[in-house]
Amino acid sequence: MNIQHYKHSTKRILVLGSGGREHALAWKFARDIGWKNVFTAPGNGGIPNSHLLNIQDFKAVKDFCEWQQIGMIFVGPEQPLAEGIVDYFKSTDIQIIGPDKQAAKLEASKIFAKKFMQKYGVSTASFHVFNHTADAKNLIAEKQGNLVIKFDGLAGGKGVFVCSSVAEAQEVLQKLEQSYGKNVPFIIEDKIQGDEVSVIAFTDGRSIKTLQPSQDHKQLYEGDTGPNTGGMGAYCPVDLAPEIMADINKNIIAPTLKGIQTEEMHYKGVIYFGIMVKDGKSYLLEYNVRFGDPETEVLLPALKTSLWDIGKACLQGNLSEITMTFNPGYFVDVVLVSGGYPGRYEKGKLINGLKDVNDDIIVFHAGTKSENGQILTNGGRVLNVVAHAGTLEQARSKAYEAVEKIKFDRMYFRKDIGMRKNYELKMDN
Ligand code: GLY
Repeated sequence: MNIQHYKHSTKRILVLGSGGREHALAWKFARDIGWKNVFTAPGNGGIPNSHLLNIQDFKAVKDFCEWQQIGMIFVGPEQPLAEGIVDYFKSTDIQIIGPDKQAAKLEASKIFAKKFMQKYGVSTASFHVFNHTADAKNLIAEKQGNLVIKFDGLAGGKGVFVCSSVAEAQEVLQKLEQSYGKNVPFIIEDKIQGDEVSVIAFTDGRSIKTLQPSQDHKQLYEGDTGPNTGGMGAYCPVDLAPEIMADINKNIIAPTLKGIQTEEMHYKGVIYFGIMVKDGKSYLLEYNVRFGDPETEVLLPALKTSLWDIGKACLQGNLSEITMTFNPGYFVDVVLVSGGYPGRYEKGKLINGLKDVNDDIIVFHAGTKSENGQILTNGGRVLNVVAHAGTLEQARSKAYEAVEKIKFDRMYFRKDIGMRKNYELKMDN
């Protein structure tokens, strides 16, 4: 057989990344094409077929794919996309799902994204662009510090600051100065206080197909208090009023697609709309050019359609022919974290009880490693405990029952995942 042809036709995929999101991606692909055909790099202690590989080294990723005869790559995190991994693989025989470097600026540059939204009429908060911290003084005073400051570049979820006073806004700018100097690009935008929803979708550049609306819980403590984290839990579907979904489609998704087409972006992958809903109107807070974490850990178990088929349709430009179907009921993910996270925490704690969890619970690993047949903690976010049931309340109870069986030293989790009232999203109050 011709090697070139074999590579193209091979049903083997490499998932890049190491978190719960990547475990969920690998798990979903494995349901379609079997675990022996799903590779993950660098992966973690719970993902079968994990391979230690520096995924920022694109040549090393290519060599690995050639060695293992892998024909397709799915990129989990934003960093390799922002650094041009899709552009790198364009000239190879290996297909890769994701936006190229230019399209990835929708996440990598907040200024690029806001200008794109403005140009194509995507509903979003009013904003001002600054290139020097001193220039923002008047606006901060005028808004009495009630505003949002967004650092322009990728900041691992730590680049957005919601302020409520002049002192708070000034403190944020001081921190920006300390890290990047006074000549730093940033945005100040109006603060819209409503309910947030994540709408995550696929695009082939010609159409956009959405998954179920979901919601993550970013803050560390119950009641959405305390410091921001990578995400303490998620659930789906969010019960969105049909009028709100229609507004999102009309004023956010459709103009975004128009922009992608008009700009002739190479975008064959995931697009994430982080949305705020207030008084029946939706506003796009941000794009991400990859799956959300922990939203993926509920969205993929809920998705019935083959992820392999969706990925191929994105690459082939026939996504419009795919029908998205979903398992009925609700999915809840409770994230178990290391004590001290998102600040300093210890690693290497033995995780007990994983085998005691019922078979109908999925545990997606994040910061774990496997050593001598034992699973040890190896990060801040350690495990995602995912339950499915007919109602949200039942799914929550099942998830928390499973959580009780898992133990590691200084384990912490939020007890109110999936309990938000979401008045703005339901429109029935
Ligand atoms: N859950 C938010 C994010 O992945 O950025």
